[in-house]
Amino acid sequence: MTEYDAGANRVDTSTAHSARVYDYFLGGKTNYPVDEELAETILAVDPTVRNTALVNRWFMHRATRWLSQNGVRQYIDIGTGIPTEPNLHRIAQEAAPASNIVYVDNDPIVIRHAEALLDSAPEGATDYIQADVRNPGRIIEAAGRIIDFGKPVALSVIALLHFVSDEDDAYGIVRRLVDALAPGSYLVLAHVTGDFDPENAEKVVALYRKRSGTTLRPRTREEVARFFQGMELVAPGLELAPQWHPELSRDESAAGDTPVPVYVGVARKV
Ligand SMILES: C[S@@+](CC[C@H](N)C(=O)[O-])C[C@H]1O[C@@H](n2cnc3c(N)ncnc32)[C@H](O)[C@@H]1O
Repeated sequence: MTEYDAGANRVDTSTAHSARVYDYFLGGKTNYPVDEELAETILAVDPTVRNTALVNRWFMHRATRWLSQNGVRQYIDIGTGIPTEPNLHRIAQEAAPASNIVYVDNDPIVIRHAEALLDSAPEGATDYIQADVRNPGRIIEAAGRIIDFGKPVALSVIALLHFVSDEDDAYGIVRRLVDALAPGSYLVLAHVTGDFDPENAEKVVALYRKRSGTTLRPRTREEVARFFQGMELVAPGLELAPQWHPELSRDESAAGDTPVPVYVGVARKV
């Protein structure tokens, strides 16, 4: 079963959308000329962005392998993006078929491709909710269809929170979501930073704002660390994406020497 907001279900092809721009960076086909145009303008400013997108996606692969090896059988993946093989449930259910996964995104284009997200192993289940992370109560309520909140859950917000401004209370949203989880649950986070090239980051922020009306809010290492307050970061801690358990890579290519301005971490709720 999937749930979505029919009123918000129109795919707007006149303005670039972050999910489709990211799909373009990843080499996908689910994007429109406006998305390609913005993506190419960003690449002209910073050609490393494509590599950054790929390396970010590979972090999701490794983090899911780690979680699965550490006994997690329930996942809520918010800002899941346009399906790209392998999706999270493929990795989780490969190791433990009886895993349940709820995908959440606010972009109506994702629901059009939801079959790819919903082809669960028969032993487990997948579900899809079209919702905005800024409405955490709705996500928690709908996720309850297949998530047992009395047991540990991995909540992933990978490359999502830099699209949530401070004014929209990014920290409060994460707190509300984590508060709903049982002890032993995990927060999995990847977040863009401007720490290494603030000038370039500012240019990309301006492009997103001007060309798609999207808020992009890169955060410093300290600001990203705040999302984990009250939780225990698992080793190796808050790292740049390529440095997080590289030994769990499978067929992902090596990141090479290109800088990757994405902080990642996995923390346990105690
Ligand atoms: C850069 S993509 C990341 C996709 C995937 N998590 C990954 O890392 O490969 C960001 C996703 O977040 C979604 N998104 C952005 N703002 C959102 C919001 N306020 N609520 C829910 N999803 C949002 C976008 O539609 C897009 O699919």
